[in-house]
Amino acid sequence: MASLLRHLEDDGGGANVRVLADDARPLVDALPDGSLERVFVLHPDPWPKRRHHFRRLIQHASIARFHDLLVPGGELRIATDDPAYLGWILARVTAHPGLRWTGRRMADWRTRPDDWPETRYEAKARREGRPPAYLRFVKQ
Ligand SMILES: C[S@@+](CC[C@H](N)C(=O)[O-])C[C@H]1O[C@@H](n2cnc3c(N)ncnc32)[C@H](O)[C@@H]1O
Repeated sequence: MASLLRHLEDDGGGANVRVLADDARPLVDALPDGSLERVFVLHPDPWPKRRHHFRRLIQHASIARFHDLLVPGGELRIATDDPAYLGWILARVTAHPGLRWTGRRMADWRTRPDDWPETRYEAKARREGRPPAYLRFVKQ
């Protein structure tokens, strides 16, 4: 959080940025429907043990919530470097009838689009030989 605030100050931007150093879920629940053009979920914790899967951020209910938050044509973007979580995410988002996955070829989800920020976790995953998947879903 301190690093983010320093970057905002150094870049002279930040006038339209709001930060929350807390559990993001109550905020997600409180935002009005149809209020966001994009939602980024970048490298959510994979919780690899089966008994912890209920803790994963990506669930059918959270996908439905992200869908409702988006404007028509808005995008849900999710990145992960965890192959097992990737399958879990794809199964849950593609089960939602209101979201369409834009991926057609491997390059579509193995290449980070220019308008997609690289995160610190992503850079570390790459260095350690775990290439991330970049998933884009459009609200119908
Ligand atoms: C693997 S890290 C990725 C961090 C960052 N997105 C990146 O890509 O560099 C997962 C992050 O999610 C945060 N996190 C997990 N559950 C959260 C929640 N309910 N609300 C806000 N942050 C959460 C954790 O604190 C952790 O910083």
